[in-house]
Amino acid sequence: MANATLHLHTRHHVGEVDRRVFGGFLEHMGRAVYEGVYDPDSAHADEHGCRRDVLEALDRLGFTVMRYPGGNFVSNYHWTDGVGPTAERPTVRDLAWGSIEPNRFGTDEFLALAARMGWTPMLAVNLGTGSPEEAADWVEYCNAAAGTRYADRRVDNGRAGPWAVPLWCLGNEMDGPWQVGRVPVHDYGVKASQAAHMMRLVDPAIELVVSGSSTAESPTWMSWDRQALEAVGGLGHYLSTHRYVGNPDGDTRRYLTTGALIDRQIDEMDAVCRYAAGVRLSGRRPYIAFDEWNVWFRTMDAEGMKRGQPFPAHLVEEVYDHQDALVVAQFLNSFIRRADVVKVANLAQIVNVIAPLLTRGDDLLHQTIFHALAMFRHRQSGRSLRTAYDGTTVGGPFGDLPGVDASVIHDDDRAHFFLVNRLVDETLDVSIEVADRAVVAIESADLLHHDDPEATNTWESPDTVVHESTDRARVDGVGVRVELPPLGFVALTVALG
Ligand code: AHR
Repeated sequence: MANATLHLHTRHHVGEVDRRVFGGFLEHMGRAVYEGVYDPDSAHADEHGCRRDVLEALDRLGFTVMRYPGGNFVSNYHWTDGVGPTAERPTVRDLAWGSIEPNRFGTDEFLALAARMGWTPMLAVNLGTGSPEEAADWVEYCNAAAGTRYADRRVDNGRAGPWAVPLWCLGNEMDGPWQVGRVPVHDYGVKASQAAHMMRLVDPAIELVVSGSSTAESPTWMSWDRQALEAVGGLGHYLSTHRYVGNPDGDTRRYLTTGALIDRQIDEMDAVCRYAAGVRLSGRRPYIAFDEWNVWFRTMDAEGMKRGQPFPAHLVEEVYDHQDALVVAQFLNSFIRRADVVKVANLAQIVNVIAPLLTRGDDLLHQTIFHALAMFRHRQSGRSLRTAYDGTTVGGPFGDLPGVDASVIHDDDRAHFFLVNRLVDETLDVSIEVADRAVVAIESADLLHHDDPEATNTWESPDTVVHESTDRARVDGVGVRVELPPLGFVALTVALG
């Protein structure tokens, strides 16, 4: 058995974990909205036409923030098409995904759903085919008191008071060659800063997310981000960054070092944010909104997506395996480790499209990644603690890394540990020592484990990879010992004396 020790002190913290890092993303894409959250024809439909079974499952993941309506979709979306009496809403072409958009679900349906689910809404505005004025009008529709044109339209549509949407994204992946209305960074900067100015004139309380580089492979990686932040200046509260990862070569050892890749991306985006704050001599720095992240590599055929499937099309319905779930846990570990700079993060996406949930007719499948995400559900609050590591290491593209990908949240008399074993064939005997506090009890411990990294949950065998309570953690003196199996993920809550 290999050994590992994590050393901590509750005063050595990184900062408060912003619970918005446990966010999600719902796009008008494939079957995410229609046949996903919204399906009035389903046996599970509630009085709003939303699927009860899907919403109950999403509730088990405890999403805090929900980004909507795209994604690439938003760059050719006119929000006015999706409000008012549904019978009068137009059916339009969606150029982003080669689909049609019937607009049966729009702003008010989404915001009402978010309110019922306890999600903080995060809307992305159209800076592709849309104008800064259209973006500001949407802020008025959502956030202004009655008495002017768009706020009164909202009232006419059945919502008297403002929805008070606090977070707004200034476009999406505007550097991407696939983006409708893609522009060079100079043009983006002009449009985004105009939109930011007008949107904040309508509602000075909103926070704005500047659209960053779409991928780390982009030739303008970091320089786009720098220039976009400089252009938007003090009106930009966050820099958006995205990452999709995968294991196309079937190299599990390498894949399980993904957490280090995410750490590096956060470091690079943090450097750009600090630079932008430095050159504008501003004490207020932008933070990171990691507003799209997930595993996505099996269903990337963009042309295939556009081959005219009937509505709603089955797009990018990635089937996840066990190792993907371990990588999903590593993403969240990275966000917790860097609680000082990552303030918002959104799993892309929540149902049917690269998602933890799949629907088929009235049936619902919980994918492997669902179980990794669920293990964070009741462990979201507190301060992130630094860890010092002794023990077995693994080699890889990022040099020698700890055998455990770990994060820790300290919440008063309690601490939560998230431990992913990066070793594919060895159990790790993990000791956790909290220098200034004694561990007095294990409150709960959950394990996600399978011997086969490629194990999946299927319609025929839906519970192949599930998380369950484990007795592999025990109090040992004043610390904890965890027997972490190879390819295992343990989430653990302890009481501190
Ligand atoms: O989440 C799927 C797509 O990935 C989003 O629409 C886009 O922003 C990204 O490229």
